[in-house]
Amino acid sequence: MVRSKIAGIGKYLPCNVFTNNDLTKVMDTSDEWIRERTGIEERRYATKHKETTTTLGAKASLQAIERAGIAKEDVDFIIFATLSPDYYFPGSGVLLQRELGITSTSIGALDIRNQCSGFIYALSVADQFIKSGMYKNVLVVGAEMHSMGLDFSTKGRGVSVIFGDGAGAVIMQPTNEDKGVLSTKLHSDGTYAEKLAFINPGSHGGYHKKYTNDDIDYGFPKDGLGEIFITPKMLEDDLVYPQMEGQFVFKLAVQKFPEVIQETLEDANLTKGDIDLLVPHQANLRIASFVQKKLGLEDHQVFNNIQKYGNTTAASIPIALCEAWEQGHVKEGNLVSLAAFGSGFTWGAALIRW
Ligand code: UT7
Repeated sequence: MVRSKIAGIGKYLPCNVFTNNDLTKVMDTSDEWIRERTGIEERRYATKHKETTTTLGAKASLQAIERAGIAKEDVDFIIFATLSPDYYFPGSGVLLQRELGITSTSIGALDIRNQCSGFIYALSVADQFIKSGMYKNVLVVGAEMHSMGLDFSTKGRGVSVIFGDGAGAVIMQPTNEDKGVLSTKLHSDGTYAEKLAFINPGSHGGYHKKYTNDDIDYGFPKDGLGEIFITPKMLEDDLVYPQMEGQFVFKLAVQKFPEVIQETLEDANLTKGDIDLLVPHQANLRIASFVQKKLGLEDHQVFNNIQKYGNTTAASIPIALCEAWEQGHVKEGNLVSLAAFGSGFTWGAALIRW
C-alpha cells in the first residue's frame, strides 16, 4: 500500500526578535498579560522591504529539499499555505516557484487559504496526490509575514501581540514501508466566518452585514461600476486589520482539537495512548495544555514553541515539527499527531508514523 511520508523538513525564522517588552513601547500592553493569556514571550518579525512571505517560504523550502536529498528540480508540485501572501493575486505558489528558480512548467502550484489549519489542509492534499500516484515530490509550505498587516496601536493589541512571522516546509514522497501519513481529517463550519477574519479588501461591498448584523459603514459607494476595495473611510477608521473574538474562538478550539485528533486515531485503529508526540498548532499555550490534559499526555509528549515565535498560523505546525525533529523529539517509528483549528472555522488533524 502506497502512503505519503515526510522525506525532508525545514524551517526559517527571521532574525529580528521582538519581546513582549518591546511591544509595550508602541501600545498599552504588558509582558505579564501576554505571558499569562498566551504563553508568548517573544516573536520574530521579518525585515520589511527585504523579506516577504515567499522569501521566508523559500528559505524553509531549500532546507526541506536538501534534507530530503533531492534537487529543487525534482519538485513536481508546490502547495503553499498562507494568509499573508505577497500579493492579492497571483498566489504565493508561483512566486515560490520563481524564487526557488524552478523553471520547469510541467509542475503545478496550488495556494491554500485556510489560515491556522492551512498546513494540515495542504498536507492532506499532498497525501491524496501522492497516494493517487500523480506526484512524487510535493513541496508543502506554510509561511506567514503577519508583521506587515497588524494594528500595532493599543486598539489592535488583542490580535497583534499574538502573531509572528516564519515559515516551515516539508517534502512529501511516496513510500511502500509501514510508515508515513496514516490519516488526515478535515472540517469546516462557515457559520462564524467573521469571528476571526480579515475582511478588507474584499468584494463584499458591505454585503456581509447581512450575516454579521454589524452596522459598520465602510464608505463603499452605493451604486455604479468600479466599486473600490479600500475606501478612505476604512483607512480612517482602522478597518483594514484582522478582527478576532478571542474568547469565542478559544472555546471552540478546545472542543475541536481533541475531537479531530480522536477521529484520526480511530481511522488508524489506534488510541490516544499510542501517541508519542502531539504537535498542535501554536495558537495559545493554554489551548495546548487543555488539549494535553484532555488526551492524558505527559509534558514531554506535547511540543510547544509559541513562547519563542508566537502564533505563525499556517507556518506554526511545520516550524514546531521541524524544531521537535531537530531536537530529537521525533524518532523513527514514533506516532506523531498534528492538529489545528482556526479562522473559517476550519480545523483538521494528521496522524503520521515517522
Ligand atoms: O490561531 C488562530 C486561532 N486563534 C486562537 O485560537 C485564539 C484564541 N483566543 C485566545 O487565545 C484568547 O482569547 C486571547 C489571547 C486572544 C485573548 O485572551 P482572553 O483571556 O480571551 O482576553 P480577552 O480578549 O477577554 O480580554 C481581556 C482583557 C480586555 O480588557 P477588559 O475589557 O477586561 O478591560 C482586553 O481589552 O484584556 C484586554 N487586552 C489586553 N490587555 C493587555 C486585550 N489584549 C490585550 C493586550 N494587553 N495585548
